[in-house]
Amino acid sequence: MADKDWKPNYDESRVPEYTLPEALALADGTRVTAAGTWLDRRRPQLMALFQEHVYGRMHGPVPGMRIEWMSAHHDVLGGLALRKELCVRFGEGADAPSMLVLVYLPAAARRPVPGFLTLNFRGNHSICADPGITLTRSWLPRDPDHGIVDHRATEAARGSRVDRWPVERILRRGFMLATVYYGDLDPDFDDGFRNGVHPLFDAPDAPRPPDAWGAIGAWAWGLSRALDCLEKDADVDASRLAVMGHSRLGKTALWAGACDPRFAAVISNNSGCGGAALSRRCYGETVGRITRSFPHWFCPRFREYAERESELPVDQHELIALMAPRPVYVASAAEDRWADPRGEFLSALHADPVYRLLGTEGLPTRDWPPVDHPVHGRIGYHVRTGGHDVKPYDWDQYMTFLEKHGLGPAAG
Ligand code: GCU
Repeated sequence: MADKDWKPNYDESRVPEYTLPEALALADGTRVTAAGTWLDRRRPQLMALFQEHVYGRMHGPVPGMRIEWMSAHHDVLGGLALRKELCVRFGEGADAPSMLVLVYLPAAARRPVPGFLTLNFRGNHSICADPGITLTRSWLPRDPDHGIVDHRATEAARGSRVDRWPVERILRRGFMLATVYYGDLDPDFDDGFRNGVHPLFDAPDAPRPPDAWGAIGAWAWGLSRALDCLEKDADVDASRLAVMGHSRLGKTALWAGACDPRFAAVISNNSGCGGAALSRRCYGETVGRITRSFPHWFCPRFREYAERESELPVDQHELIALMAPRPVYVASAAEDRWADPRGEFLSALHADPVYRLLGTEGLPTRDWPPVDHPVHGRIGYHVRTGGHDVKPYDWDQYMTFLEKHGLGPAAG
């Protein structure tokens, strides 16, 4: 069916009957009853399935990655913060791809500081009006209303997304915040994998195997490389960082958390299809729709499950389970039907048996909580009033959740 005639299903009674794959069943059908079997056998099986069928193969670090320069400025944001910037280059040549890592640390906090690592959609300079942040030189989607002219950032773009980034609120609560522009890693359009970090791994014109990684893989890879750098920073407690992301970057945060066990916690904000939402529900965005609209995000094989979701060997509750026993948070928004809020909750719920097998409390509810009633077990969940967005309300829940799990500043 052509996409112009396609309509999302928003009717709960039209959600197809489905049977989820069992997170706790081994490929030979036997049930996992011991934590060790989950960690040694089932988890690796699921990692392989997600790489083969959904996100593509994850790559390791590139030789020759180096921090090219770093700046540190004390007493920024009215004395509240220490701001650092790192330029990280992936390879030797001047034209090797690079990313800018922006780090805010609360000036008064005891070191090392735990906190958040995130990707952003519009350049590091968009998260805060701080005039000291380097304007990205990477390609940006045109957005003249937010100071992005001709795919380049201008001064007018500073602080254009502050609504999503309550930087001072985060710092005042004692957390650090590190962020990277996702377009540094892979500009978000389908160019046949010629730009970003893709050419470091794949010849642009080589045929793509069904399990080749896509943009989500490359963005997640960048989060791990940012973590490599933060591990070297004595001000940052890299062993207590939460990887967090919104929407397509929420999908990315989940995949980064699955691939890289160094992330101490994982937070998905309104990540929807290909993120926290169950694919088999076909509510809102579907596998068919997302792979047609964004063919460059996933591995080529994922497309084969368009309108055949029940044949997927995994579903997204198993992605949530791959975080176990680390704290994981799934957040929905009530009006964000495209992302299937209920399907996001059900993923969290169906990951619960794995969390319990590993001796944690999992998700301490069976029922979809009412709006603005967060549930904070080892799995956290809330559905917020309003639409597809990241609000201070969401950040507040994440900070409370991290504190509960010893990942807040007080526990340091
Ligand atoms: C589109 C896409 C979603 C995605 C969202 C975003 O709506 O269909 O899958 O999460 O963009 O990243 O903002």
